Amino acid sequence: MILSNVDNEMKIFLKNYKRPTNFNRVLSGMRPTGKIHLGNYFGALKPWLELQETLYKKGLKHTSYFFIADYHALTTGYEDVSNLKENIKNMMIDFLAVGLDPEKSVLFVQSHNEAHSEAYLLFGMITSIKLLERNPTYKELKENLKEKDLATYGFLGYPVLQTADILLYDPDIVPVGIDQVPHIFITNEIGRKFNNLFKPIFKEVKPYLSETPKLPGLDGRKMSKSYGNCIYLSDSKEEILKKVRSMKTDPNRIRKTDPGNPENCTVYLYHKVFAKELNLGEDFLKEIEEGCKKAKFGCVDCKKKLAQNIISFLEPIWEKRNYYQTNFDKVLEIFKEGDKLASAYAKEKVRQMKEAVNLFLF
Ligand code: TRP
Ligand code: SF4
Repeated sequence: MILSNVDNEMKIFLKNYKRPTNFNRVLSGMRPTGKIHLGNYFGALKPWLELQETLYKKGLKHTSYFFIADYHALTTGYEDVSNLKENIKNMMIDFLAVGLDPEKSVLFVQSHNEAHSEAYLLFGMITSIKLLERNPTYKELKENLKEKDLATYGFLGYPVLQTADILLYDPDIVPVGIDQVPHIFITNEIGRKFNNLFKPIFKEVKPYLSETPKLPGLDGRKMSKSYGNCIYLSDSKEEILKKVRSMKTDPNRIRKTDPGNPENCTVYLYHKVFAKELNLGEDFLKEIEEGCKKAKFGCVDCKKKLAQNIISFLEPIWEKRNYYQTNFDKVLEIFKEGDKLASAYAKEKVRQMKEAVNLFLF
C-alpha cells in the first residue's frame, strides 16, 4: 500500500474493513500522558481485556503484549517531563486495576526494552522522510499543538518507533483507535521495505478496530484531557457526583414537567453504556427512557442514578487501585517479569534484523 494519498486510502480501508477473526498474537501500547479516563477505558483498555480473554480461552498464554509507550510520551511532551514518572507508575497500576492479567498477557514498559531503540535505529535507516511527512497525524498535531515545538526529529519519527514496537513481536493484529490506522499503514510499508531489501522476517499486521462504543466526554464532545470533560478512573465518589451533575441534558427539557428526548442527551448515552456494563437489563433502560419521555422524573434524579451506576462500575477498580497503590512492590515485580518476557522475544528479532543487514555478529 502506497501512502500517496492516505485519505483516499483510509476511506477505501474503512469501507472494506472487516475485523480480523483469526489471530494468535496481539500487541498494543498506550502513552502515559496523564491519568486514565473512561474514554481510554472504553476506547482501548476494554478491547484489550477482551482480546486477552479471547487468546487465553484459546489456550494461548503470553501472546498478547500490552505496554506503556513512555518513549512516545516524550515525542510530544519532551519540554515538560515533570509528571512523566508519576504517569508511568499510575498507568502500571491502572493496567492491573482494570484487569490486565500478568498470567495471561505480557505487560511491560517500552523504555525498559532496548530492542525497541535498536529496531527504531535500524528502521530509521530505510524510512523515507516523505512517508513520514505525509503522515496525517503528524500534519494534524503540528497544526493543532502550536504552543509546543514539534518540529523535532523525534516527533517526525514517531511512526518509526511505533513500527519497532509492533514488528518486534510479530503480532497478527494491533488493537487501536481509528486515528492510529495511518501509523499501521506506515508500519507495514516499512516492514515490507525491510523484507524486500534484506530478508523477509516481518509479516503484515492488521489494525483491529474495536466494536466497543466510544464514551464521549461529559459535554458530548470526544473525551479528552484538553477539553476538561473527563471522568478519571481515579476520581472520587464526590468528584463523580459533581461531574455528572454538570452534564448537559436535552436542551428542550427545561422544567421537570417538560417531556424529554433521551436520544438527545449524553446522560442517556452514558446510561446505555453503564447499564450494559452492570448487566442491568433492558427494563432499567426502558424505565429511564419512559421516565424522560413522559416527564416522570427530573434530570437531577436521572443523573443521580447514572452517578450511582458509574460508581458501582468503578468500585471494584478502585479497590484494586488501592491494593496496588499500597503494594506497589507487587506492581514492580509484575512489570519486571513482563519486561523480561518481552525482551526475550524482541531481542531475538533484533538479532535477526542485524543478521539480515549483514552486521558482523560475533
Ligand atoms: N501511538 C499510539 C497511540 O497514541 C501508542 C502506541 C505506541 C502504540 N506504540 C504503539 C499503539 C504500538 C499500538 C502499537 O495511541
Ligand atoms: Fe437526559 Fe435523563 Fe434528563 Fe432525559 S431525564 S434529558 S435522559 S438527564
